[in-house]
Amino acid sequence: MPRIRVEVDGATYEDDVEPRLLLVHYLRERLGKVGTPVGCDTTNCGACTVLLDGLSVKSCSVLAVQADGRDVTTIEGLGAGGPHPLQRAFHEEHGLQCGYCTPGMIIAALDLLRENPDPSDAEIREGLEGNLCRCTGYQNIVRSVRRAAGDMRRPAQEQEAAS
Ligand code: FES
Ligand code: FES
Repeated sequence: MPRIRVEVDGATYEDDVEPRLLLVHYLRERLGKVGTPVGCDTTNCGACTVLLDGLSVKSCSVLAVQADGRDVTTIEGLGAGGPHPLQRAFHEEHGLQCGYCTPGMIIAALDLLRENPDPSDAEIREGLEGNLCRCTGYQNIVRSVRRAAGDMRRPAQEQEAAS
């Protein structure tokens, strides 16, 4: 069985894994990172999105062995030092209802804002088109990402004063 060494949310893990084990199942079942849900297992919904070396990927479309030597960030790592501006904005703008899509939506939005810190609503919709939500109708998700984008562009001192 191949042995992998992977950095997940700032901690290093070494494990023997089946070659066919999907990254999402490794994260959830071996590491207990259940904040990353499985919505479909067929690479459609985006609920399982994580950052792999800083880029968003659907972790049900990646094998655990492909993460060997790489860096993974899940929603749990994002919130480790207190709520991220995206997490705050989704909460304050009601960007979720059941919450099933939310971890993937937030991670995908993070990658979108890294590439485009000031996206239009159309660019937000396009950037998140691989992530499906059955509840919200997307309006509040777009509003949440727009608000977080504004917060993330402001200097940290201003953000603290406003919170
Ligand atoms: S569980 Fe990965 S895309 Fe749906
Ligand atoms: S909030 Fe329920 S699927 Fe998006």
